[in-house]
Amino acid sequence: MHREPHRRGRARPPDPARRPTRGRPAAIPAPSIRVLIPAVRLHARIRALAREIDADCAGRRDVVLVGVLKGAFLFMADLCRHLRTPLRCEFVRASSYGDARESSGAVRIGLDLTHPVGGAHVILVEDIVDSGLTARRLLATLRAGHPASIRLCTLLWKRGRARHAVRPDYVGFRIPDRFVVGYGLDLEGRLRNLPYVGVVE
Ligand code: IMP
Ligand code: MG
Repeated sequence: MHREPHRRGRARPPDPARRPTRGRPAAIPAPSIRVLIPAVRLHARIRALAREIDADCAGRRDVVLVGVLKGAFLFMADLCRHLRTPLRCEFVRASSYGDARESSGAVRIGLDLTHPVGGAHVILVEDIVDSGLTARRLLATLRAGHPASIRLCTLLWKRGRARHAVRPDYVGFRIPDRFVVGYGLDLEGRLRNLPYVGVVE
């Protein structure tokens, strides 16, 4: 019977990705995460935000939610399901962090709107506003398309940031100035699928 060569000998050099004692691949070390906002609180607050937005959009015809990928994908999906206002969904792409935990300050933007936003009531949907540089750049870019109005809705707003470049119109939660993950937010590309928002300890 064919056997994989690596199962045979014990004389292989130690592989740092394997536990030396048992020879099994080691799990990727999981960062320790403390729940900051549990899923039930997220969903209750998002329902309330949707009611607020519905009230403000009453009678408006062309409402467009513009979600910022990747971080806002879950928030956008849940928010738009609770909204009763007829709307369109668009997405833009922005990244400033790379794999770091602090914004590099250089925001990369990818705008690929299916329909122009001219004359529309635009709501930019962000996962988190930290320094506000990303949102400020995105708002400026969208404004260049001459929307009838433009608002910023963010699930999270970090407190205590002196250099806030924008003031969101709709805020889910104000949070301490800590690095958070989950519910769309990532650490080096991972943990976006956590159903809650947690603090990396
Ligand atoms: P800002 O330009 O400094 O406001 O950063 C905004 C972007 O950085 C957000 O859209 C997020 O993608 C990312 N970001 C900011 N803070 C965090 C965090 O605590 N965890 C994960 N991503 C973050
Ligand atoms: Mg983001």
